[in-house]
Amino acid sequence: MQKMKYSWGVALEVMRLVPPLQGTFREVITDFTYEGYTIPKGWKVYWSASSTNKISEYFPAPEEFDPTRFENGKAPPAYSNIPFGSGPRICPGKEYARLQLLCSLHHIVTKYKWEVINPNAKVAGGMNPVPEEGIHIRLQPY
Ligand code: HEM
Repeated sequence: MQKMKYSWGVALEVMRLVPPLQGTFREVITDFTYEGYTIPKGWKVYWSASSTNKISEYFPAPEEFDPTRFENGKAPPAYSNIPFGSGPRICPGKEYARLQLLCSLHHIVTKYKWEVINPNAKVAGGMNPVPEEGIHIRLQPY
């Protein structure tokens, strides 16, 4: 798994372009001021995974799919791409998700030729992007 750096770059790039979870809420525990705005204790704030992930200063040509963005030495700044969140409430399933993703990618890519049957599947908006009819793929063993 540790050797699958390019494959993990692919997964990160997919999640950068379409974060599986757009963000979620937090409750402010103490008054703070940000950019001249005072946010009082008790307010709900929303952190978003879909705000810094396409800033061209950090991700040149941000709409392009480029799994090499995350290679050693040219990783984007910390906290600019946080599909699993960050801080004390970071997704506790992150490493398990990584294991599952890399394991299925490995088998699908090395053992099967595959084709998406409904490439124009409608994706419903909301907190999570969900293909309305699922994504149907045809797998053929090599
Ligand atoms: C690609 C897969 C996944 C993504 C992108 C993802 C993303 C996230 C994000 C963004 C959060 C919110 C973090 C925050 O509030 O700061 C979260 C929370 C959480 N995730 Fe995941 N997750 C994934 C897979 C999983 C898996 C496989 C599990 C369990 C086996 C899991 C369990 C949880 C739990 C329990 C929380 C709540 C943590 C808390 O509030 O303290 N996640 N996840």
